[in-house]
Amino acid sequence: MTKIDSCDLTFLARSEEETFELARRLGQSLKGDEVILLIGELGAGKTLMVAGLAAGLGVGDETYVCSPSFTLINIYQGRVPLYHLDLYRLSDPAEIVDLGLEDLLGSGVVAIEWAEKLPYEIRGIKVIKIFIEVIDEDQRRITISGLEPESDFIWGQDHRKT
Ligand SMILES: Nc1ncnc2c1ncn2[C@@H]1O[C@H](COP(=O)(O)OP(=O)(O)O)[C@@H](O)[C@H]1O
Ligand SMILES: [Mg+2]
Repeated sequence: MTKIDSCDLTFLARSEEETFELARRLGQSLKGDEVILLIGELGAGKTLMVAGLAAGLGVGDETYVCSPSFTLINIYQGRVPLYHLDLYRLSDPAEIVDLGLEDLLGSGVVAIEWAEKLPYEIRGIKVIKIFIEVIDEDQRRITISGLEPESDFIWGQDHRKT
């Protein structure tokens, strides 16, 4: 029998609050060395999901999560650091390489908006991809891929105790 080492989950989020809550729960389940690749059109909810991840990682809600367009990387301090990148405005792959992403990998959770612009594939580290599809004004189809089948996100944080 083959062991399944990764799985995809699809959700229908019917409101901004549901999307936030999904991301918050995912954030709670993270160990602190994952890369989260966020893929979806403008206005899909990528930044909102990073805000949810931040909440789940214990970043205080006085911290405002917004796209790091000028600073290139925002850092939020929670139970582990959360590095927030947005590649939207970067058109030259060399600029993306210059971000020094490699140095961040493994030292916290790295969340990347417009991750499809990455000119190379990230290897050697846990990569979780989140695809957000806009269904209508309030609804999003969210697919989370690359989760470990034993992930706390799937089972809840209490399952290890029982
Ligand atoms: N179910 C939903 N999930 C996420 N965002 C939603 C949802 N319904 C409405 N929205 C709205 O969509 C917008 C998403 O914005 P944002 O997170 O900045 O998108 P992106 O970073 O992908 O461009 C927000 O204005 C939010 O209120
Ligand atoms: Mg955004």
